[in-house]
Amino acid sequence: MLRIHRISLARAGCAAPSSVLFNAMSEAPRHPFLQGLSKHRGTPPTVIVIFGASGDLTARKLIPAIYNLAFDHLLPADFFLVGYGRKAIPDEEFRDIAAGAIKEFSRRELNPDVWSHVASNTSYVAGGYDDIQAFERLAAHIQALESKLGREVQVLFYVSTPPSVFAPILRNLGAAGLAARYLGTPLHTKVIIEKPFGKDLESAVALNGVIREVLEEHQVYRIDHYLGKETVQDLLVQRFSNSIFEPLWNRNYIDHVQITVSEEVGVGTRGGYYEQSGALRDMIQNHTMQLVALTAMEPPVSLDAEAVRNEKVKVLKAIQPLNLGPGGDVARAQYAAGMIGGKPAKGYLEEQDINPQSATETYAAVRLSINNWRWQGVPFYLRSGKRMARRVTEIAVQFKRPPGTLFAGSNRFDLAPNTLAFQIQPDEGLSLILNGKVPGLETRTQPVKMNFRYSTTYGSNTPEAYERLVLDAMIGDGTLFIRGDEAETSWQLYTPVLKAWAAAGREGMDSYTAGGWGPANADALLSKNSHIWRQP
Ligand code: BG6
Repeated sequence: MLRIHRISLARAGCAAPSSVLFNAMSEAPRHPFLQGLSKHRGTPPTVIVIFGASGDLTARKLIPAIYNLAFDHLLPADFFLVGYGRKAIPDEEFRDIAAGAIKEFSRRELNPDVWSHVASNTSYVAGGYDDIQAFERLAAHIQALESKLGREVQVLFYVSTPPSVFAPILRNLGAAGLAARYLGTPLHTKVIIEKPFGKDLESAVALNGVIREVLEEHQVYRIDHYLGKETVQDLLVQRFSNSIFEPLWNRNYIDHVQITVSEEVGVGTRGGYYEQSGALRDMIQNHTMQLVALTAMEPPVSLDAEAVRNEKVKVLKAIQPLNLGPGGDVARAQYAAGMIGGKPAKGYLEEQDINPQSATETYAAVRLSINNWRWQGVPFYLRSGKRMARRVTEIAVQFKRPPGTLFAGSNRFDLAPNTLAFQIQPDEGLSLILNGKVPGLETRTQPVKMNFRYSTTYGSNTPEAYERLVLDAMIGDGTLFIRGDEAETSWQLYTPVLKAWAAAGREGMDSYTAGGWGPANADALLSKNSHIWRQP
């Protein structure tokens, strides 16, 4: 269930929740609009076990997320953190590593009072991922925590390992009796599974099969961190809490939709991973498709997880198979050397760990046709690339042009199309382009922009996506996670593309200058319908 809190300044003095861990936190006063929002979400006593505890994601995102939840009094009073990994690490050292990660990566500085509460309940278990005895040791460790506490706790397993060990971990959770703990009660085992969820349809189906061997679907939380971003959630709120949008949100008024996820960064030190992935798998199939689903789905009957996910799957299923022929629906390219932020940037083929003949795309663009009552004939254009001019994620909804015969000597094309742009990151917000009159004695029109920015309305320092997602999984709310059929539906659309590209090798691979806005073949995707990419 996506919880929507109504803002009431009158509630600013509401009583502290019973699970508050820490009393005296020194933090700047909350923005007036945020005061009075309840922080307590009824989290049961919990053990979080992180598989892949010495990995990069754990340090950069998971430990800081847990720390910030503690800071915000959102962890249950009875909370334990257990790191699990192949490397033998003493408890004390794991706590030091975790504190180091908070210092380096948390959005807030490490507060010793907050951290000491979490650290005192933090431990580490060493073991292989295919070693059943190690999982039995883990089960005994959890049992011991529970006995010490004298009450039952739920266990949330966070699988943050390379995908090659997802299956053995899941099977060993089953074999060690950890998967079925308290099944049928709210304290049942929950499992978060990191991306990538498969590398094509076949592998995603196989992984779902392994999951079904040991877990029920409601125990599984397939993560896509884009769903935890504030502005992605705001998309649903904007669409379904404002009556002005719904009457316009269809083929009668919308000309097309452009979704851009561009990054300035290149592949950096992740060449080994990226060579096996590419932009279509890494960004389009997952993150960008989530943005499509939320933009295009029908209003759900409630904000319950199943109601929302049913609508997402329905709209994903209405997307037509992609035309892979010449002049078709897809484009791919690699970045060539260029300049980013005034500094020279290497081309992809010169990067560390990259095959100089690589056929992996660092940019992908697609044109989607959604064949349903609402969207038929409205193209959805998606693009994502590394080493682009600017880091920006935005959804731009472009409305049809008005019949602009009134404002001549111009013709109607002098009027800008109204565009509603959800800026997901950075500088989160929402803008609307309207046409207005330029002040003066003649009637001249000019596009003007109405802007709402999170930072000016709410201040900065919004929670990171992982904070929201870890909290939701602890509470048992799957709304912002991917259901098994949803992952498969998206792979079904893109697997033929991946196969065709693999067969073609470098043939058809375009290039774009690092620091630019992408390749010519992606422009051609739009020009067929007389559209052009917007410069976000
Ligand atoms: C990850 C991809 O899932 O998302 C990365 O593997 C990418 O390649 C990252 O850089 C982008 O996430 P964000 O939150 O920075 O937009």
